[in-house]
Amino acid sequence: MSTDRRLFVCTNQKSGVGDDVAKALKKELKHQGLKKQEVKGQKVRTQVQTCDCLDLCRSCKKGPGAALIVYPEGTVYGNVRPTDAAELVAEHIGRGRVVKRLHLDQ
Ligand code: FES
Repeated sequence: MSTDRRLFVCTNQKSGVGDDVAKALKKELKHQGLKKQEVKGQKVRTQVQTCDCLDLCRSCKKGPGAALIVYPEGTVYGNVRPTDAAELVAEHIGRGRVVKRLHLDQ
């Protein structure tokens, strides 16, 4: 059985940072070999998806970075910059650990 995981990245900022974050995440998933992985015996494929406003604007267009949500678990990150992509992919996708400094409590 396989599962899809998606990183929904808001691109609703005037600065265009969301598009840059999405590109950086895609690049890191490929670079770190984590587009497809096996987690607890299940094949998991991770994709990056851009989207419109996630209603997290205080941590998105009013800050230095973009907001994103990890589906299906619903982890929410805010003010994510392209330079955060490597850590986010390695920690969250690779090791299953939330990156606390970017995590938003909902
Ligand atoms: S503008 Fe990005 S969450 Fe609203």
